[in-house]
Amino acid sequence: MSTQPKLELVPDAVSFARPFSVAILGFGTVGRSVAEILSYNADPRLQLTHIFNRNFATKRVSWTNEEVTWTDDIDSVLTSEADIIVEAIGGLDPAEAWVRRALQRGTTVITANKQLIAHHGRELAQVAQDYGAQLLFGASVAGGVPVLLALEEGLAGDRLVGVSGILNGTCNYVLSRMESHGTSFEAALKEAQTFGFAEADPSSDINGDDAAAKLAILTQIGLKTHVSPNTIRKTPVSSVETIDFAYARQLDSTIRQVSRAYLDGRKVFAAVEPALVPLNSALARAEGSQNVIVASGKYGGNTAFLGHGAGGHPTAVAVISDLIAAAKGRSHAAWISNLDSKPTRTSSDFTTPHYVRFVVKDRPGIIATIATALSSRGINIDAVLQKSGFAKAELPFVVTLEPCGASVLREALDELSRADFLVKPPVHFPILK
Ligand SMILES: NC(=O)c1ccc[n+]([C@@H]2O[C@H](COP(=O)([O-])OP(=O)(O)OC[C@H]3O[C@@H](n4cnc5c(N)ncnc54)[C@H](OP(=O)(O)O)[C@@H]3O)[C@@H](O)[C@H]2O)c1
Repeated sequence: MSTQPKLELVPDAVSFARPFSVAILGFGTVGRSVAEILSYNADPRLQLTHIFNRNFATKRVSWTNEEVTWTDDIDSVLTSEADIIVEAIGGLDPAEAWVRRALQRGTTVITANKQLIAHHGRELAQVAQDYGAQLLFGASVAGGVPVLLALEEGLAGDRLVGVSGILNGTCNYVLSRMESHGTSFEAALKEAQTFGFAEADPSSDINGDDAAAKLAILTQIGLKTHVSPNTIRKTPVSSVETIDFAYARQLDSTIRQVSRAYLDGRKVFAAVEPALVPLNSALARAEGSQNVIVASGKYGGNTAFLGHGAGGHPTAVAVISDLIAAAKGRSHAAWISNLDSKPTRTSSDFTTPHYVRFVVKDRPGIIATIATALSSRGINIDAVLQKSGFAKAELPFVVTLEPCGASVLREALDELSRADFLVKPPVHFPILK
């Protein structure tokens, strides 16, 4: 096992002996933007030397330096003298194996890959430490918003107990459009795809997988607790309908896909789901495809970070910042030594007030049936909201509930789902303060 770091660290920008050579794996949205910034806004400490992509001939551009080697031979890049490898191909396979190989050669790796870090970050950080390499992944959460650095260093003096955020720009764009234009979920999603805010297959955005990976990384870095993205409960935002925004506004709120984790002793509460958030809150302030993250500290209270969570250039800025940090000797790999090694339980059973929307075929006794199912489990109704102008055959109304556990509410709604007056299953969202 080599413990000799390949990267010779420089204490400041003035005293470096030679620029660090940089190889980019993947010339797509992120990789191309990284190459662009390195080529046009060159930092004297960093020199682009390799670009790897399958079928690279179809990707080749004329604006990179003539000395850049374009290749589709991964071995030639991994065994090259590149000091730093930027992984921008995405996915787990083969990215994980290639990153591991690079680290085992003592090569510093910078990645924007949230799935890779959420699923394998702990092992890869250990490999980096074992082989004297550096591993940085500032671009893996919230694109251009430097939140990981802020949690690790800017808020290092606090004891963070919670982190919440709008971590998926596609969902935020779709929900914002539904709210501002009264558009249906399907129409807003189609529009997001047309304008490039959503991928052709947006399922990992909509079902919460993308945000859960980012939340897992935030939890590991901010709350110093290992959480697997697979154990985070996810509720798709496709359950939100246009009518929900009208009811939410009556409650001075809007609806967003909220990712949140909260540490309580040895238990981490974590979920990614649509939630009502106050109109004047930081979470409601993320517009279009922006991201926002709120860190909650025991001593410092709430601190919010807002900015562009995706897109080639904002994400590339985060990658370049990591390149500069690596040249100065900083790494996220040290985070594993701060991770709490005791096992932690993950739960999604947050206790909050709730919003429940029913769509019913109207008849007498409906509210009484709902109240019985809820009160038999100790759940108190706070208010019943009903907008006029809907047909009695398909009547939407909303019940808000005093704070209750999400799991006991689901039990009550499961029982009610058999009721003959329901036109469709009830939908419930937490109401956040
Ligand atoms: N896009 C964003 O806004 C954003 C923001 C934050 C983080 N990220 C993360 O950044 C990473 C890259 O995302 P991206 O949006 O740049 O993806 P992308 O546009 O699909 O680019 C990926 C590039 O890698 C190439 N590639 C993929 N697998 C390969 C393989 N096995 N061998 C050789 N080349 C391969 C692709 O080539 P082909 O064109 O031939 O498929 C493509 O050029 C992902 O981990 C993503 O989660 C992206």
